[in-house]
Amino acid sequence: MRTEMSAPSETTDLTGAVRDVLGETGAIGATVRQIATRLDHHPDRVAAALATLRSQGDVLRMGRGLFVLKDFERLAERADFVDPESFVERFEREDGISLGRYPGPITFRSNETVPVHRWWPYVQGYSAEFVAGVLAASELPRRATVLDPFAGSGTTLVETRRAGARALGTELLAPAVLAARVKTHFELDPRELARSAERVLRRAEQRAPGPLPFLRETRRQFSDRALRDLTRLRDSLPPEGGAVANALRLAFGQVLIPSSRLHRSPCLGYGRRLDESARPPFERFRGAVAEMVSDLAELEPVRERWGPPAVIRAEDARAASWPSRSVDLAVTSPPYVNGMDYVMNYKVDLAWLGYARSYSDLRELRRLEVACDNLPRRETAPYLDTSGVEDPWLAEILHRIRGNLERKRTYRRDDVHAVVHRYFADLRPVLDQVYRSLVPGGRFVVVVGDSLLAGVYVPGDLLLARLGVARGFRIASVEVARRRRSGQRRSFLLRESIVTLERPRSAR
Ligand SMILES: C[S@@+](CC[C@H](N)C(=O)[O-])C[C@H]1O[C@@H](n2cnc3c(N)ncnc32)[C@H](O)[C@@H]1O
Repeated sequence: MRTEMSAPSETTDLTGAVRDVLGETGAIGATVRQIATRLDHHPDRVAAALATLRSQGDVLRMGRGLFVLKDFERLAERADFVDPESFVERFEREDGISLGRYPGPITFRSNETVPVHRWWPYVQGYSAEFVAGVLAASELPRRATVLDPFAGSGTTLVETRRAGARALGTELLAPAVLAARVKTHFELDPRELARSAERVLRRAEQRAPGPLPFLRETRRQFSDRALRDLTRLRDSLPPEGGAVANALRLAFGQVLIPSSRLHRSPCLGYGRRLDESARPPFERFRGAVAEMVSDLAELEPVRERWGPPAVIRAEDARAASWPSRSVDLAVTSPPYVNGMDYVMNYKVDLAWLGYARSYSDLRELRRLEVACDNLPRRETAPYLDTSGVEDPWLAEILHRIRGNLERKRTYRRDDVHAVVHRYFADLRPVLDQVYRSLVPGGRFVVVVGDSLLAGVYVPGDLLLARLGVARGFRIASVEVARRRRSGQRRSFLLRESIVTLERPRSAR
């Protein structure tokens, strides 16, 4: 039963009890609600007890409403915490590689003004400049083949084709597949695109508003006026398939989030207030098409340098296979350990573009994507048993996560170790496929981040490099491209690295 009223001694007891809970939850910390549930107390009382403990300097508030005992403030100073530096030293000792630095821009932000790349801003993408640098440094043969198994919005593929090489990719998220296909179709006729866009707008102006997509929160996401215009625009688009029709759908997709109350930073969330005076969707659509038309005109004069048309397969990278020894270079960025739920983040695009028609479609897609934190328990159940994990680093990390979860008991989910286990199990077949498809001496360049999970540091970049070695790759380098803040603890700095693996010439 919850205690609504409490006498002074009870308050002291509660403060002590809150301190005990935080002692048990240790480095992970706990939210007001979690402590309240654990103690079966009213959240307001728990919040008051936490305020007292904070004023005494015993408790600290970390990111995402988490509270920890002062004692756990500096994870790195705790005996049970293995910090990033220790892993880096161990990596040097065991794998013989010291971490270098990559000085250029790595995030997608720098693409937002770059012709073609700007057609579909993809927060999770990387910079065109980075890919262009890798291509240039690789000194590829003429008509080389470049593969991106997690192609996203096609940054690798656009740069590959622009550099005269053959681009291959797989990607599961349909709006990203659409973006990659449109962006690599340099033959798109800008005049025809502009004329078709005007026809679509004329049809939309005369049309009655159409049905809303299935997402329950649609009315909360958009103003009535935006909904009216967006449904009219959507219902006036030609069916997907032809190059112009695809480009128009992409322009429509680009209009969705800026016409809503939502923003991605990087996760989808409510930000702006509904503003009836904001730029109307029809005008935004016209602007998106105008951008495409002007970028296509820039591509045209260098036509003789383009590589052959890109091949983009809407397929699971774990199952996709390519002819053996047919790829000269692979460049990619997979999802990060416990990072983004791409399905949740792109549900608006998926629903409005008709790629998902129900919540079960969204669930099915999430099941196929590399494991993330929102995976249902039945998907992680086969990974609860971690006894078969071969890499000693991964085995230790999974064990530590499980230990922290058992101590805490009320963590958001008690199978985080199984999610992490499945994440690395998901990457293994991709390493296999890329290894087989690469020519001897061919490189696999992977941009990947590390994580802090359930109070345990997970060096995703170094673990991936080690899995690569187990598959037969040689580690050519690991370069740190940038620092970023942990969502769990704002003060904890994570990194994003470029791991370069090479299929040895004396192939195994
Ligand atoms: C970090 S993003 C890649 C972004 C890309 N480099 C760019 O610049 O646009 C990772 C991508 O992997 C995709 N993905 C996740 N699991 C996948 C799977 N099993 N098969 C293919 N693609 C997958 C996600 O949909 C996401 O687009």
